[in-house]
Amino acid sequence: MKRGYVKVTLAIVLMLMFAVMTGCAKKEADQTAQPQTAGQEKAENQEPVSDTAEVKPEEKTEDAAAPETEQGSEPSASKEDAPAVEVKEEAPTLNLTIEGGLKDVYGQVGMRAGTCLSEFMLFDSKFTDIIKENFNTITLENLMKPDYILDKEASMAAGDIVVNFTPKTRELLDWAKENGMSARGHVLVWYSQTPDWIFYKEFDKAKGLVDRDTMLARMESYIRQTFELLDTLGYTEMFYAYDIVNEALNDNGTLRDCLWKQVIGDDYIWYAFKYADQYAPETIKLYYNDYNEQFKTQHFIKLAQSLVDESGRYLIDGIGCQGHLYTKDSIDDYIKMLKAFAALGLEVQITELDVSLGTWQKILPATEENLIAQGQYYYELVNRIMTENAAGNTNVSGITFWGFSDVLSWRRDRSPVLYDKDLKPKYAYYGALQDREKAGY
Ligand code: GLA
Repeated sequence: MKRGYVKVTLAIVLMLMFAVMTGCAKKEADQTAQPQTAGQEKAENQEPVSDTAEVKPEEKTEDAAAPETEQGSEPSASKEDAPAVEVKEEAPTLNLTIEGGLKDVYGQVGMRAGTCLSEFMLFDSKFTDIIKENFNTITLENLMKPDYILDKEASMAAGDIVVNFTPKTRELLDWAKENGMSARGHVLVWYSQTPDWIFYKEFDKAKGLVDRDTMLARMESYIRQTFELLDTLGYTEMFYAYDIVNEALNDNGTLRDCLWKQVIGDDYIWYAFKYADQYAPETIKLYYNDYNEQFKTQHFIKLAQSLVDESGRYLIDGIGCQGHLYTKDSIDDYIKMLKAFAALGLEVQITELDVSLGTWQKILPATEENLIAQGQYYYELVNRIMTENAAGNTNVSGITFWGFSDVLSWRRDRSPVLYDKDLKPKYAYYGALQDREKAGY
């Protein structure tokens, strides 16, 4: 029905060429993989300001109790103590004019700049001023997640899964629309923040799980209704990307256990993309989104390559790299990963960027020195992305920060974003803005 035909054969040829040229990205990513990986760490520390209430405790426990398995060696002391960023004497020449906010600077190189958006951010003009100044795309931090848009009462009455946007969801989308912003949809199929009742007979947890065919029909209905609703409510035009599936892979490449997988089977991701491809308008790019992307690059690639129809056409359009990083993470490895995704012929977006201080095993305090290192990290990361994009080596079409003020961040104890708790721009902000002077150099 739709979507440009991208032949997988071409992608494979490009990928092989790329692999020959660079030496396999996976190998290098694996060499730097962290023990236990941030997957376990992420679940254990999942205490966002606004997410806490929504993350179901049993999921936290389950995730923490089943640490993901990619093996690596303990980082040596010397590696941990290495400088955060290799400081380059000369800035690459991108000819950027540092004027206005992030969106103005990123717009000069064809990238969007985004933030996640939560209800409480609209209560204070200090927040909305920062958002309007800096961002031209938003992702609802919670209010489009399955927990919020699947309506139990209506589903029980209709005998089919029913999608409804809550007034709060609409309020946030209306605000973004009124302010001329675009939106990433987040998220349809996910193991977390998804109500269990959708998997049960008559939507009643006392009645046992439904069979595969019933669940596929529900999934199809859910995805179809979501895109229909966007249309009915007048939001379709503002959406340019949608996370169809989030966080389906363990760090070792196996599929994460979840009810979608248990009830439908391992091909649930393929079906989610098949239905999204069928019902989403051509203007909304379909994304697979996940974290620890630099450590599971080859697993992402394998998954993306499996998401094709009978003729070999991709059902997926893009790979969402969450980008929950640390100031000691290798930017070189991150860029290698972005290049490997570009070689697939898919679009890439950084969807939830925040850069915590230190490493996931050892969070550093927010000292002047560490905040300067963070400013330089943001500068280098964004600069490398812009430069590699310009050279045609990567194709990152936007960077969404997972919030803007440390006080609002889900990782507020790690000072990971752009403004401090008093809403004063940090070195990190100027780094992200590409203002080299003010980024702490
Ligand atoms: C994941 C999800 C986001 C959010 C963060 C924590 O990255 O994709 O929606 O829940 O965790 O804020």
